[in-house]
Amino acid sequence: FARPWTFVRGMAQANDLPPIAGTIEVAFAGRSNVGKSSLINALTGQQGLARTSNTPGRTQELNLFRPEVEAGLLLVDMPGYGYAEAPKEKVDVWNALIRDYLRGRPNLRRVYVLIDARHGLKKNDEDVLTLLDKAAVSYQIVLTKADKLKPGGIDKVLADTAERIRKRPAAFPEVLATSSEKGAGVEELRAAISRLLAG
Ligand code: GTP
Ligand code: MG
Repeated sequence: FARPWTFVRGMAQANDLPPIAGTIEVAFAGRSNVGKSSLINALTGQQGLARTSNTPGRTQELNLFRPEVEAGLLLVDMPGYGYAEAPKEKVDVWNALIRDYLRGRPNLRRVYVLIDARHGLKKNDEDVLTLLDKAAVSYQIVLTKADKLKPGGIDKVLADTAERIRKRPAAFPEVLATSSEKGAGVEELRAAISRLLAG
């Protein structure tokens, strides 16, 4: 995770950019506003690398980021799903983009599926997990905004979430809790991603 990281490009279609030889991709998926872009900024230690917003629907393309040196790893910020207020045409385009990328990207090594710690798994999250299970794409659940829970509250959400994904074939059994705001869990996640590169 050596800085600086740079924006490579955005992809409006999953095949806009052929997989780059010698790199693996790690993608961040989740409902709109769950904190995908914020987590990329926390992981890279670069606020403002990925654009964030209070308003759902900020990230509208697949945005790729790479370290300036030590290329080999690309972080992929994804549009969110489940944003009910967005125009239907946009939602359809984002959903197709998300599905096409998650199902068919050869370099995609791991998907981090972000879940708001306050809300837990929703139906549209389960749909994405099922898609990943069917495509045999390895994924791990990451709870976000852990700072918004009362102390101790996170343990129950962690246990409940782990129980709900227990039988899912492509799921990594351990669920991580993070706060991009306070930095909790960020180093752990960085270490997990670094292990993917090494292995
Ligand atoms: P879309 O691109 O619209 O799908 O959203 P996103 O998932 O990229 O969310 P984004 O990172 O833009 O964050 C959405 C809002 O949540 C912003 O107002 C962030 O400041 C806030 N947020 C993100 N992570 C955290 C966190 O760990 N704690 C708290 N308290 N707020 C957070
Ligand atoms: Mg975003």
